[in-house]
Amino acid sequence: MAFSILGISGSLRAASFNTGLLRAAQEVAPDGVTVEIADITGIPLYDEDVYQAGFPAAVETLRQQVAAADAVILATPEYNFSISGPMKNAIDWVSRPPMPQAFNEKPVAIMGASGGKLGTARAQYHLRQVLVFLNAHVINKPEVMVGGAASAFADGKLTDETARDLIRQQLE
Ligand code: FNR
Repeated sequence: MAFSILGISGSLRAASFNTGLLRAAQEVAPDGVTVEIADITGIPLYDEDVYQAGFPAAVETLRQQVAAADAVILATPEYNFSISGPMKNAIDWVSRPPMPQAFNEKPVAIMGASGGKLGTARAQYHLRQVLVFLNAHVINKPEVMVGGAASAFADGKLTDETARDLIRQQLE
C-alpha cells in the first residue's frame, strides 16, 4: 500500500538547504513511500480578516495537501534561534479552523539544516512545542540536524552520508 508524505520547507529561497533535505528524503524513501514537496511561496502572511473572508488559493491547497497526507515532514531553517517566519506562518494557516485542524493526530517528522554547528536544534525544539499544541504525533528519533550545511551539500544535493542515513531511518 502506498504511503504518502508531504514535505514542507520553511525556506523560500531557490537554493535552500532545507528544501534540499526534502529532495534527499525523496531519494532515500523506502519502496512504496512518496514524498511530495509543498510550494508555500504564494502563502500570504496570516490575517484573521482574510481567514474570515475565505482561504487564499495557496493556503487551501496546502491545507488539503496536509489533510490528505499520511504523514508530514517539516524541514525548518533556524532563524535567530527559532523557526523561520514562513514555516510558522504556513503552520498557523493550516491550523485554522481549530476544530478540526489538519495537524491533529498527524504523524510529523522534523528535520533541518543550518550554517551553524547545532543544525537547527534550537529551532526544532521550538517547532516541537508548536506541534504539541496541535496534537501532532511527532517522531522523537532519529533527530535530523544538519550543521555546517554548506559542506553537507554539493550542487544542491545532500552528499553527507551520515545525514542521508538519518533521513532514511526517519522515513522508515
Ligand atoms: C540565519 N541563520 C542562522 N543559522 C543558525 O544556525 N542559527 C541561527 O539562529 C540563524 N539565524 C538566522 C537568521 C536569519 C534571519 C537568517 C536569514 C539566517 C543562517 C541559516 O542557517 C542559513 O541562512 C540557512 O542556509 C537557511 O536555510 P536555507 O534557506 O538554506 O534552507
